[in-house]
Amino acid sequence: MRSMNRLFAAVLGLALVAGAQAAEKVYQVASDAAYAPFEWQDKNQKVVGFDIDVLSAAAAKAGIKVQFHNTPWEGIFATLATGDRDIVASAVTITPERKQTMDFSDPYFEAKQLIAVTANSPIKRFADLKGKKVGVQTGTTGDEVVQKLLGKTSPNIKRFESTPLALQELLSGGVDAVVADNGVVVNFLANNKNAKLKTLDDPSFAKEHYGFAVKKGNKDLLAKINKGLATIKADGTYDKIYRKYFGN
Ligand code: ARG
Repeated sequence: MRSMNRLFAAVLGLALVAGAQAAEKVYQVASDAAYAPFEWQDKNQKVVGFDIDVLSAAAAKAGIKVQFHNTPWEGIFATLATGDRDIVASAVTITPERKQTMDFSDPYFEAKQLIAVTANSPIKRFADLKGKKVGVQTGTTGDEVVQKLLGKTSPNIKRFESTPLALQELLSGGVDAVVADNGVVVNFLANNKNAKLKTLDDPSFAKEHYGFAVKKGNKDLLAKINKGLATIKADGTYDKIYRKYFGN
């Protein structure tokens, strides 16, 4: 009888330890937090933004914990393969090429490229960027779009480690245009009212969809994120977050 009790206590103890460990699992999230309104750092260095609110809300519904880390865009996807991070939440466009090396959640935001130029620029459309210096963030879909027009190795493509840096270069005259995600360009213009920049849309730019990226094959985590996303889309939480950042 005694040994039975001891066995019972041991099994109970193991179950408690296992339970505590399961509850403590915190998924580590990489965001290049120089990308307002999707991700940036507030004055306390906390990573905040639309992506953070969406993923946090989805995670809460799925019963998982997430922790965000400002992580440079260059090399951000490699952190999944190495296991340093479990999720990339960084306004990442779902592309067929990226899908070969990582898995994506269901889409959570629609975007497209936008051209930023100075207010008095003669540039009217995307094709006018031929022969011009164009700023992009390295390795983004903006970079890819511009490569198609100017050629992969064109010296006229000026690559920056962040999109705000590319836009600063436009302000200081180092580039003639910047091609980047619409939401970030619009946000930059709104916060730099005196800068005299304007945006140009181009019908050749394809629709893009942002997804949360996980290590290829991490089906379990992906299912949880997707379940959470579906829940917040259905119960109005997503719409509320959307309105907070983008109005109606
Ligand atoms: N949507 C673009 C892409 O996936 C740009 C994303 C850049 N995100 C960032 N946080 N810097 O290539």
